[in-house]
Amino acid sequence: MNQNRKTPVVPQADLAAQAQLCHRIAEYWQAQGRVPVAYVETYGCQQNEADSQQIQGMLARCGYVFGQSAQGADLVVFNTCAIREHAEQRVFGNLGALTHTKRNHPAQKILVCGCMAGRPEVVQRLRKSYPHVDGVFSTSHLWQLPELLWQLLSTGKRVFFTQDEPGAIAEGLPMRRDNPLKAWVSVMYGCNNFCSYCIVPYVRGRERSREPEDILAECRQLVAQGYRDITLLGQNVNAYGKDLGRGIDFADLLTRIGEIPGDFLIRFMTSHPKDAGPKLFAAMASSPKIAKHLHLPVQCGSDRVLKAMNRHYDREKYLSLVACARAYMPDLVLTSDIIVGFPGETREEFDQTLSLLEQVRYDALFTFIFSPRPGTPAANMPDPVSRAEKNQWFDQLCALQNRISEEKHRAYVGKRLRVLVDGREEGCLTARTQGGRLVRLPDHPALIGRFVQVEITGSTTWSLTGKPVE
Ligand code: 5AD
Ligand code: SF4
Repeated sequence: MNQNRKTPVVPQADLAAQAQLCHRIAEYWQAQGRVPVAYVETYGCQQNEADSQQIQGMLARCGYVFGQSAQGADLVVFNTCAIREHAEQRVFGNLGALTHTKRNHPAQKILVCGCMAGRPEVVQRLRKSYPHVDGVFSTSHLWQLPELLWQLLSTGKRVFFTQDEPGAIAEGLPMRRDNPLKAWVSVMYGCNNFCSYCIVPYVRGRERSREPEDILAECRQLVAQGYRDITLLGQNVNAYGKDLGRGIDFADLLTRIGEIPGDFLIRFMTSHPKDAGPKLFAAMASSPKIAKHLHLPVQCGSDRVLKAMNRHYDREKYLSLVACARAYMPDLVLTSDIIVGFPGETREEFDQTLSLLEQVRYDALFTFIFSPRPGTPAANMPDPVSRAEKNQWFDQLCALQNRISEEKHRAYVGKRLRVLVDGREEGCLTARTQGGRLVRLPDHPALIGRFVQVEITGSTTWSLTGKPVE
């Protein structure tokens, strides 16, 4: 037990009590002679995908099997995203539609969890206006799902596990992974950065890290089970270890995972530019198992806007970081997030984002139009630019990135690369490069799940085509 850690860990006895409740729930269904069906719908980012896999792991322990739709399911779980208003509107719309599925199956139980469940206004709205929602739990209460479900099944009363808690690490929750090759592994939760537009620190709480031994044991097990592509997750993985008081940081963790024997690739996201640096890049460069891919969100290219966003770096510092990363890894694949139309952003400032794109030449971008999130500082900043104008800027940004992506993809033609063949689609195999670029290959099912050497023969804006060599 690490006595130095600053953030709490859920005691094993509490986790064992939850596991006991799973067995009780399984018995409850057995007594009814039924195999209950659950349907889990996931919104948002990879962290939510990973959380949903834990939710499904706990539900499987409770005897549930999984269906493809809410229709007829005994339990529906919506794991929600709060990052933009649009994401929330979708959830509310789809929740509204569940009144029909519940009418057809009145015993259906409906739960809402994830980031929206960390917003008191949302919880209030669910309480008042969505009486068909039977339970709500925020991310810090995820490990208590069996307890919530048991209360609900045994009393029939609505259950809310939404108290604001610092959030503790729960180790050893069962996980139901749906892809036999690719696994998410959370290394830390929460965020301390409070970028002025972002709701994450409010709904997911402060940064807290898992102990390295727990992460290493999970990765070792995944490799032994045949997983080939492991993505380490955290809102800001470069803050890993700060709360552990053990002198270990993310670069050390990566190096240790890279030393696990076996044929696999490690990826990670997301890196905050203020915390990434030469130690991380050296660790990436020195292990063949670490993908040479960095997701390093810049958000925008203007120093004034970066300051208003509370990002703690300027354009020059970002560009020198990129140059440093490329000096360590000449073939680095670089991706980023961009927000268009932050409050008060001018056309000239937006042009600086365009020029930054030309300078950096990202391989791919995730682009967003600013969405005011209640309770964040940016939501109260004057925002004079119209939506129509922001849409226009957004289209220009995408057009520029598409041109760059297309040019970068074209430069792959004729090259030989190692790719992981991960599936089949429309009569061909799909594979991913280290940098996550999609490569289509001639159909040859025996290759699925293997790393193969390919020659790239063609390209588009979105993908590459290739053929296996020897
Ligand atoms: N509006 C638009 N985009 C946002 N992001 C975070 N908050 C907002 C917001 N309020 C984007 C950022 C972040 C990514 C995950 O989502 O670019 O990096
Ligand atoms: Fe949000 Fe900034 Fe934290 Fe990323 S680093 S989750 S953008 S507050």
